[in-house]
Amino acid sequence: SRTLKPIASVAAQNGVKNFSTSSQKNFKVVVAGAAGGIGQPLGLLLKQNALVTRLALYDIAPVTPGVAADLSHMDTPAKVSGHKGPEQLDDAIKGADLVVIPAGVPRKPGMTRDDLFNVNASIVRDLAVSIAKNAPKAVVAIITNPVNSMVPIASEVLKSAGVYDPKRVLGVTTLDVVRAAAFIGEINGVDPQSVRIPVIGGHSGVTIIPLLSQSQPAVQLSDQAKIDALTKRIQEAGTEVVKAKAGGGSATLSMAYAGARLAGAVLRGLKGESNVVECAYIKSDLTEAAYFANPVLLGKNGVEKNLGYGNLNDYEKQLLKAAIPELLKNIKTGEDFVKK
Ligand code: NAD
Ligand code: LMR
Repeated sequence: SRTLKPIASVAAQNGVKNFSTSSQKNFKVVVAGAAGGIGQPLGLLLKQNALVTRLALYDIAPVTPGVAADLSHMDTPAKVSGHKGPEQLDDAIKGADLVVIPAGVPRKPGMTRDDLFNVNASIVRDLAVSIAKNAPKAVVAIITNPVNSMVPIASEVLKSAGVYDPKRVLGVTTLDVVRAAAFIGEINGVDPQSVRIPVIGGHSGVTIIPLLSQSQPAVQLSDQAKIDALTKRIQEAGTEVVKAKAGGGSATLSMAYAGARLAGAVLRGLKGESNVVECAYIKSDLTEAAYFANPVLLGKNGVEKNLGYGNLNDYEKQLLKAAIPELLKNIKTGEDFVKK
């Protein structure tokens, strides 16, 4: 069965000392939604990534130029620019190698991710229109919820502009993997960074499918009830944070960490590094759902290879069965929004 290759930590990717190596390639990274709860710490982490030479921060919030000024004082090589409002969007996107999108509203207690669709759909659509025009070859990494529907929206927009490359549009599900590793590390009493765990499907409720049977090291849980409880905790971890923030938004710091890890992996792939593997929600023909998350090999063109999800046990097969109708619905909602 398939084994997961080790994934470098954000700390390792952030090795600014490496910036003079000969394999260095310079990348322009855009954060769209850069003034928000995720956007600001994501900018902070990306400013420390030696592969980023230009960091363009786009948002509609008045504070955006200030966030850019603030980050520009960090003594790392990336040149920071701030872009505020739709009239500055094209400039932000121009020449981007990677556009990371955390723009949009987050959940409050009692909401589902789907409740965000109406506001966030047009935000992602408009960003995709600019990407199609100004950086059609950029890799697009979408954090905005509901991810299951936002990736189809961006894909349809790029398709209608004639520039869609399924290798270059990713939904960011890294936080699910990070959470699963954190929880397993705690249960097993090991460093969570040493845990390899694929999380497949999508990024909401039942569509989040942690493959605990494939965890390396094996999860030390004695019975199925405990496996079920851990699975549900990973599926509902976003809600756990939403409730704990009590109206103050959803996960931002762990998401920035996860987003920086995914962005770093994409850049290492673009640079030509081998064996760069992360889970991501991509165009897929592995299941009935046209988009599906599982481990992918990242390379010079974005997603180089879909690594699939290996063998599922009976419990995981049931989880997959429950996820597919929800994914199909979420994908259709996204596609219909653009077609209308
Ligand atoms: P936030 O409200 O703190 O920040 C969002 C930012 O987007 C704000 O600065 C806002 O001004 C900006 N924005 C709004 N409309 C915009 C537009 N048209 N163009 C550019 N920027 C625009 O929210 P947050 O906590 O940073 O969350 C952002 C999104 O990320 C939410 O949809 C949330 O559900 C999602 N999220 C996803 C994951 C994941 O795992 N994929 C994890 C956490 C949060
Ligand atoms: C998360 O998983 O933390 C995000 O998708 C935000 C949310 O609404 O739960």
